Amino acid sequence: MKTFTLLASLISIVDFVLAAPAERPVHISYSSFYSRPSYTTSRSHSPATPTGKNGVNGPVSLAASLVSDGVLSYATPSALSRFNYTGALADKGIRIAPPPTPSGGLGTNGSIPYYHPLSDFDFQSINLALNQEWIELDLFHHGLAKFSVEEFEEAGLNAEDRYLIQFMAEQELGHATLLTNILGPRAAKQCTYRYPFETVREFVDFCQKLTRFGESGVYGFLEHLNSRDSAQLLLQSITTEARQQMIFRQLEGLFPMPVWFETGITQSMAWTLLAPYLVSCPAENPRIEWQNFPALNIENNPDATPLYNTSIPGNDTAPAITHNRTIPLSYPGREVYLTWELPGKIVSYNNSYITTTTAGPPKYVAWISQLNTTFTPLLDIDGQSGMTYQPFGRVLGDDTAPIVNGTMFIMITDDNIHVTPSNISQLNPHIVAGPALYQSG
Ligand SMILES: *[C@@H]1O[C@H](CO)[C@@H](O)[C@H](O)[C@H]1NC(C)=O
Ligand SMILES: *[C@@H]1O[C@H](CO)[C@@H](O)[C@H](O)[C@H]1NC(C)=O
Ligand SMILES: *[C@@H]1O[C@H](CO)[C@@H](O)[C@H](O)[C@H]1NC(C)=O
Ligand SMILES: *[C@@H]1O[C@H](CO)[C@@H](O)[C@H](O)[C@H]1NC(C)=O
Ligand SMILES: *[C@@H]1O[C@H](CO)[C@@H](O)[C@H](O)[C@H]1NC(C)=O
Ligand SMILES: *[C@@H]1O[C@H](CO)[C@@H](O)[C@H](O)[C@H]1NC(C)=O
Ligand SMILES: *[C@@H]1O[C@H](CO)[C@@H](O)[C@H](O)[C@H]1NC(C)=O
Ligand SMILES: *[C@@H]1O[C@H](CO)[C@@H](O)[C@H](O)[C@H]1NC(C)=O
Ligand SMILES: *[C@@H]1O[C@H](CO)[C@@H](O)[C@H](O)[C@H]1NC(C)=O
Repeated sequence: MKTFTLLASLISIVDFVLAAPAERPVHISYSSFYSRPSYTTSRSHSPATPTGKNGVNGPVSLAASLVSDGVLSYATPSALSRFNYTGALADKGIRIAPPPTPSGGLGTNGSIPYYHPLSDFDFQSINLALNQEWIELDLFHHGLAKFSVEEFEEAGLNAEDRYLIQFMAEQELGHATLLTNILGPRAAKQCTYRYPFETVREFVDFCQKLTRFGESGVYGFLEHLNSRDSAQLLLQSITTEARQQMIFRQLEGLFPMPVWFETGITQSMAWTLLAPYLVSCPAENPRIEWQNFPALNIENNPDATPLYNTSIPGNDTAPAITHNRTIPLSYPGREVYLTWELPGKIVSYNNSYITTTTAGPPKYVAWISQLNTTFTPLLDIDGQSGMTYQPFGRVLGDDTAPIVNGTMFIMITDDNIHVTPSNISQLNPHIVAGPALYQSG
């Protein structure tokens, strides 16, 4: 690695032509001359070359081809590698044209960004994300208000940890404001919510689960938005949410990031997970047009909430930057018992949604984690209950991370179709019930 700087300090050439391939030559006058940034290259450099005319290292003929009658042409890497860039060119007041921008790409031609939905798909996706931001804002405040300082301290969370949660609530205000601005006057307003926790540990567990589907719900649709400009702003919010998810895992004493890739799910999967916590929303909130699947319940979901303050490796679950989970929460081959609801149940705020499915009879359990959707057979089916086994499988083959690890998604399906991150929505018509969040690690 070698860093070299192409400095502009025109001394003798007052007016010259800067030419780059495929572009019209641009006249640069002395007054418009400006400093170039530093360039870093990882190219290997050829050994010292003979010193040429004017102290510029490199063959004279090559120097001449770069600088001829004050005309600079784009310097190719092979040409550059033959010069000494410790300042010899700059000393001569010579400036080299930057490389041309590689062809392709979108939205780089000077068109004005448009940070608003360009389709119903965009509006509904971003409005779902906004509903998610609103509940997070309420949830973080609610937890801080619900529990006393003593209760937080007993869970190992001190004043600085509580301020971190407070700051995360403020981030949510920022995210909700951003998404409201993207959506315009029809954007959803904040609702009232219900929460399934009674202790600080359960609060933290719920936060790491809610932010898990908030984050994955956005990854699932980001690439499919018509408005690339809105997608960029949303991404810059959701990477913050990803950090929140990891921090809540740390506050729960879990291994902070037990996967190699964060997974994406569809809007309908995210909405199914979010819907039960919305109690009442303003009448003017736009209806959420995604599908609500019947609920799936994991009867023996691994529980990360017990607090063990033992300093035994693998057992200690006190808040920490990281803990070895040598005694994992779950393992391949683990029996998992499931029950699920039939479609037609009234759910969510103001009892204004109904669960539906287009799938046939239940046959498989789909496990969505990392880059993969893995299917296991659904066994011992009896009405709306059944069991399956936690699958094996490593994300990129032998000796890579186990696919099933962390807070991930399972659902009951009627088929085991092959889907990958970009076409995971093809799974929606096959969902009998779910998703549910499986706490595998
Ligand atoms: C590069 O050029 C400068 C200035 O001419 C000289 O001092 C230096 O020794 C040269 N370095 C190499 C590696 O040739
Ligand atoms: C930029 O590219 C887009 C898409 O090809 C095109 O519609 C638009 O007119 C271009 N804008 C400018 C300023 O060239
Ligand atoms: C864990 O135990 C240590 C040593 O007794 C104590 O200082 C610490 O406060 C305990 N932490 C929690 C979260 O209970
Ligand atoms: C999950 O990840 C943690 C941390 O990397 C690791 O200790 C654990 O063994 C993994 N779980 C399984 C089932 O491999
Ligand atoms: C939900 O119910 C509340 C309380 O009755 C009411 O104020 C609100 O307008 C209702 N929202 C919808 C979407 O019907
Ligand atoms: C961790 O330690 C606690 C307290 O000693 C014990 O009750 C619990 O069973 C242990 N957990 C595991 C997974 O070993
Ligand atoms: C943590 O887990 C890793 C991987 O299994 C192991 O190499 C390391 O020795 C463990 N460290 C402690 C302190 O348990
Ligand atoms: C998981 O997905 C990756 C990326 O598509 C793929 O290369 C890998 O083979 C999959 N792993 C399994 C066990 O199917
Ligand atoms: C999804 O994409 C994969 C390629 O990544 C393809 O093999 C598979 O057939 C597609 N699934 C469906 C249901 O179209």
